[in-house]
Amino acid sequence: MVRRLPHSCLRRPCHLRRRPPPRSGWGLPRRRRPGGRVKTATHTARPDKHDFDTLTGNTWSVHGGNHADETTGAIRTPIVMANSYRLPEDPSDIDDPGYRGLVYTREHGANQRGLEEKLAKLDHGEAAAVFGTGMAALHAAFFTTLNPGDHAIVSNVVYMRVAGLFTDVFPKKLGIEVDFVDVTHLEQVHAAVRPTTKLVHTEVIANPDLRVADVSALAGIAHDAGAMLTVDSTFTPPPMMRPLDHGANLVMHSLTKYYNGHGDAMGGVIIGNRDLVEETRTGAMWHAGGAISPFNAWLIMRGSTTLPLRLQRQCENARAVAEFLDADPRVVHVSYPGLPSHDQHDAAVAQLSGGFGGVVSFAIGGTHTDRLSFVNNLRVITSAVSLGHDETLVAYEEYPEGPAEAFAQPFRDHGLVRLAIGLEAAEDLIADLDASLTFAYRPR
Ligand SMILES: Cc1ncc(COP(=O)(O)O)c(C=O)c1O
Repeated sequence: MVRRLPHSCLRRPCHLRRRPPPRSGWGLPRRRRPGGRVKTATHTARPDKHDFDTLTGNTWSVHGGNHADETTGAIRTPIVMANSYRLPEDPSDIDDPGYRGLVYTREHGANQRGLEEKLAKLDHGEAAAVFGTGMAALHAAFFTTLNPGDHAIVSNVVYMRVAGLFTDVFPKKLGIEVDFVDVTHLEQVHAAVRPTTKLVHTEVIANPDLRVADVSALAGIAHDAGAMLTVDSTFTPPPMMRPLDHGANLVMHSLTKYYNGHGDAMGGVIIGNRDLVEETRTGAMWHAGGAISPFNAWLIMRGSTTLPLRLQRQCENARAVAEFLDADPRVVHVSYPGLPSHDQHDAAVAQLSGGFGGVVSFAIGGTHTDRLSFVNNLRVITSAVSLGHDETLVAYEEYPEGPAEAFAQPFRDHGLVRLAIGLEAAEDLIADLDASLTFAYRPR
């Protein structure tokens, strides 16, 4: 059967068709210039309008590291999916320490560089090195600052894979000696110092029990001992906290969390003074790999634009949820740095600005089965690891990983439920928690 085309599909031969007027860059018809010439677009390179000294951190979150594309005039840095960049006429130029060109994406790419520019200044650092995951960044920082035979003092509550690096990997493979101490008791940190101590490492708000470290005090102890202080500030990104301003030598973030904020990309960063950061790049990233993909760098760049707004909402939501749980008789214990009952509430008030973070940890009674029932009957909140996403996540551990004695008694007895609060309406989160507590236990 021959299908007949509708009338509108019958097109005039090309040379008889009336051409539409040319469009300008704004989608408007372009006016012909006298003489019939159409003006072609030129993009003048304007002077860099981003002078950080005159911008607040929030403005830098929007503009930092973004470079308009000279070729197309696109106002956002495009995703540069290239493994390699054109070499200079004399390739040996790339060995010059001052060489600023890009060469190979494991060592530096266009999207990675823009993100580094943004993140360094947000945390008041001179330079940043971005990695493929938070763990790649943390590993690179420790690998750079420690040598065989050195001693490290590490907080006894840190992200479990960091604890794993210091219990298994570094002592066994590199002969590094480690003491895990409760960094909220400064006398224990003092007592752990040895002549060979080269590193003190902590999180500002610790994963998962949310104890708060006094960063300035730890910096004092580390520096008096001739050691460096490295701080994982994943739970407290700027503008909440800037550990470099409190004396830390390097700050690290898992960019997978608040910076990206949408649960769809992984990344990590090290920020500090230029020499030290470049040492982590050339020593650990170049040799061990661990570079971020251009696409993930671009996603994190986009996510970080709204970081201050998201963080503000997450802190507000977290506080409302923490207050609800704290007043609930079905809940045994709540840890949230914003509650006056938190052991280090004063340290949190002194160091943090704009809120106390988006994570709330708590313990509920009953049996392991009751607690699973509570978690699995939540309807708005999703059971998954990670944090800092747009949606609220819950992670329940019957036995929180780490030295058992490190955790407060309620977490040892009842396990730990970690809520990583998102951007939903606080009342919906509270209603979800209330309904699931009622399902698993009893009405309030
Ligand atoms: C405090 C903290 N640091 C580092 C990491 C590791 O980051 P990534 O998962 O991006 O490797 C995590 C992951 O949960 C974390 O919670």
